[in-house]
Amino acid sequence: MDEQQWIAMDEYLCDRTQTPDDALDAALKSSKEAGLPAINVAPNQGKLLQMLARLRGARRILELGTLGGYSTIWLARALPADGTLLTLEAVEHHAVVARKNIDRAGLSGLVSVIVGDAIDTLEAFVRDGIPPFDFIFLDADKQSYPAYLQLVLRLSRPGTVIVADNVIRQGRVANARSSDPDVIGVRAFLDMLAADAHVSSTAIQTVGSKGWDGFSLSIVS
Ligand code: SAH
Ligand code: DHB
Ligand code: MG
Repeated sequence: MDEQQWIAMDEYLCDRTQTPDDALDAALKSSKEAGLPAINVAPNQGKLLQMLARLRGARRILELGTLGGYSTIWLARALPADGTLLTLEAVEHHAVVARKNIDRAGLSGLVSVIVGDAIDTLEAFVRDGIPPFDFIFLDADKQSYPAYLQLVLRLSRPGTVIVADNVIRQGRVANARSSDPDVIGVRAFLDMLAADAHVSSTAIQTVGSKGWDGFSLSIVS
């Protein structure tokens, strides 16, 4: 199997499971035109996130790493009309692009894009005692996943679902001797999940239009 076959299979699966969607297409197009990297989730991963949030009955969603708002749109569409999604982004230019995309999708009433280092924003949330989230998607810088986990657990409650993207990195995460800060961060994150008796987790590797990567899925008890 090579990457061309993974891509062909992903295209086939997306064709069979997805309907044309102007807002999502426009979000990718405007992100590309604005010079953002194409590191958004794949369409079938986006739909999986949306379905997981729906299965959870999520009313409050937290996302770390907005980029152009592509995964944000998928997730926000899982919300009821009075739901809330807060998405954290360090780069102002990304947030500006994302807000336009979210607005075009008709979701700006549900979504707030908060600019700043996610650590600072999460610390402020904890300090302010904001209500817990039902569904949390970690997708910002991978070095900080351990710090993010520590903070988002304080913004969780029993039943909260946590999905973390990019925990495979073309298999590099299996290398215990890696000096790659992303790999070190993801490994420390997975160690923390393993050591936490209040979190039940699995992790799944994926191939497709975004190469070989994957995600972890956790439920807080
Ligand atoms: N979730 C998006 C992709 C996110 S890419 C999607 O699937 O569509 C990762 C994003 O995290 C980038 O936009 C990057 O600017 C942002 N980021 C990186 N470090 C960050 C930090 N410390 N705090 C907040 N956002 C950060
Ligand atoms: C990168 C970040 C992501 O969130 C992703 O899904 C793929 C790649 C990156 O920073 O390279
Ligand atoms: Mg990602």
